[in-house]
Parts: sequence; structure tokens; C-alpha cells
Amino acid sequence: MLAKTRHFLDIDRFTRDELRALLDRAHEMKAATKSGQAGAPLAGKVLAMIFEKPSTRTRFSFEVGMVQLGGHAINVTADMMQLGRGETVADTARVLSRYVDAVMIRTFDEEVLFEFAKHGSVPVINGLTDQSHPCQIMADIMTVEEHRGAIEKKVVAWVGDANNVCRSWMHAAARFGFELRVAAPTPLQLTDRDLEWARTEGGHIWQGEAPHAAVEGADVVVTDCFVSMGQKDQPSRHNLLRPYQVDERLMARAKPNAIFMHCLPAHRGEEVSAAVIDGPRSVVFDEAENRLHAQKAILALCMGA
Ligand code: CP
Ligand code: NVA
Repeated sequence: MLAKTRHFLDIDRFTRDELRALLDRAHEMKAATKSGQAGAPLAGKVLAMIFEKPSTRTRFSFEVGMVQLGGHAINVTADMMQLGRGETVADTARVLSRYVDAVMIRTFDEEVLFEFAKHGSVPVINGLTDQSHPCQIMADIMTVEEHRGAIEKKVVAWVGDANNVCRSWMHAAARFGFELRVAAPTPLQLTDRDLEWARTEGGHIWQGEAPHAAVEGADVVVTDCFVSMGQKDQPSRHNLLRPYQVDERLMARAKPNAIFMHCLPAHRGEEVSAAVIDGPRSVVFDEAENRLHAQKAILALCMGA
């Protein structure tokens, strides 16, 4: 019998123990790379990367990760493929499965990702959809662990649009046992369905409109851009989100040793002040680096190495 294909589609599809093992591997791989002890567990393997949205970190970290693991990556945008001229996702998945060992996809609706996984026979990795960004949050948890130790029972405050990145934080809160407080304007909050999922899974999620209430005594303060890729950049959106800028006054409400996180790209003067993102509590470039290490563990898991 064929073994089940191991995808990395979303954090909520994994158990706490599986995610823990993945992060332990990521920490080990980081240490091995830094000490020049890393082997080449993916020698001869090829990753296809399909981008329907722009990327800096995801594109480079996956490609560098494959090279460091001894493999190779092929990077394409959807409009370079027949996919952009109407070839179906299912046929694309069937064809690529004959060439490569895994596929990373950044797309709009997550259904594209699921469709790809359903029709292909190689592992599929979520490189961001409108609904989630699980690789980012694995790197972010790794970063919290490096700076503040175990994330269990800590308080993470999300300030701003409760978008794809926030939703992956919510999945992680349920799996890793930390409290997530979300401060967002009502039209941009997590849905009742999301909150219901979190409740069912034992997640400790608070949601409201007031940034100061979310940040009070928090260990970690996180935000993201006002306008995500694929969203309309309207003045009404900026008006709604302007009161949610993370500045030094807001950070002063968090714990004295609280860290500031942002998946990047950032917009200084919009969702975060320059003083905060460029200040001593910001760990945003460690997060960016940890994309590489967390994803190497994900690639190894998916490709059975
Ligand atoms: N954080 C992140 O995913 O960045 P990119 O859009 O540059 O890949
Ligand atoms: N929420 C952002 C994250 C970018 C990495 C977006 O989807 O554009």
C-alpha cells in the first residue's frame, strides 16, 4: 500500500506533537547549519514553487533552503505557466507530480491549494493563501522560543486586520497552548466560525476592538500590513485601521521584555511606527531568517528525509 502523502497545508491539520517535532527539527537544523554540520538529506530532490502573488522572503527562503538541503528549486509565476491560460489546477498537479518531489504554492483562495493536493501525488506546501500563512507562523513560534523560551501560556497580542497571518496565529494558539488576543475593527475581525473552531480545539482566544486591552501585559505584540495582497487598497480600510498602529505608547502597555513581531513587508508610519520596528524590542529580521530554518524542517518532513 502507498504511504499517505505528507502535505503542509495548514497548522490546524497537524497535532501538537507533530508540530513540536517539526519545530525541534527546525531548531536542530538551524544549529547544524550555523556550525557547518548540516548534511544533504534532500540530495537529488526538486521543489516546484508556484507564485500567484509577489514574494521576497518565501521565494528566497524556500530556494535557499532546498540548496542547503542538497536539492534544487524551480520558481515560476502562474502567468508563466499554462495555468495562467486556463489549464486546470488538477491537470497541472498531475503533470508536475511526474517531474518534481514537492510543490510549494502561494495563491489566493486556499481551495486551489487543496485541489492541487487532491489531484497531485507529491506533497504540497502552503506558501500563503488568502486564508492562512502557516510557514510564517512556524518561523514566528521558533523566534518566540529563541527570545523568550516556551510559548505555552504566554500572551500574544495581535493588533490590526485579523487576516491570513492572524488566522494562522489562531491555529497555533490552539495547538501550542498560548493565549491569543486579537484587537481589530469589527469588520476585520476573526469570524465566528474561526472562533468556534478555536473553542472546540481548546484554544484561548480573546477578541475585541481595543488595542490597549489586547496588549496589556502581553509577551508578544504582532501586527501586519493594512492591505494584504489581493485586497482593495481603499481609504476606508486605512481609516478603519489607523487607530491600530503599534507605536511606543502601545508597546509600553506590554510586558517590559515584550517583543515586537511582523511577518514583513512592513509599512512604517501605517501599521507600525519606525521607532518600534527599528527599536530594540523588534525581532522582525530574526523572524525572516527563521523562515529558512522552519521551512527546511517542513521540506524534510514532506519529502520523508
Ligand atoms: N512574510 C512573507 O511571507 O514575505 P514575502 O511576501 O516576501 O514572501
Ligand atoms: N497579510 C499579508 C502577508 C504578507 C506576507 C498578505 O497576505 O499580503
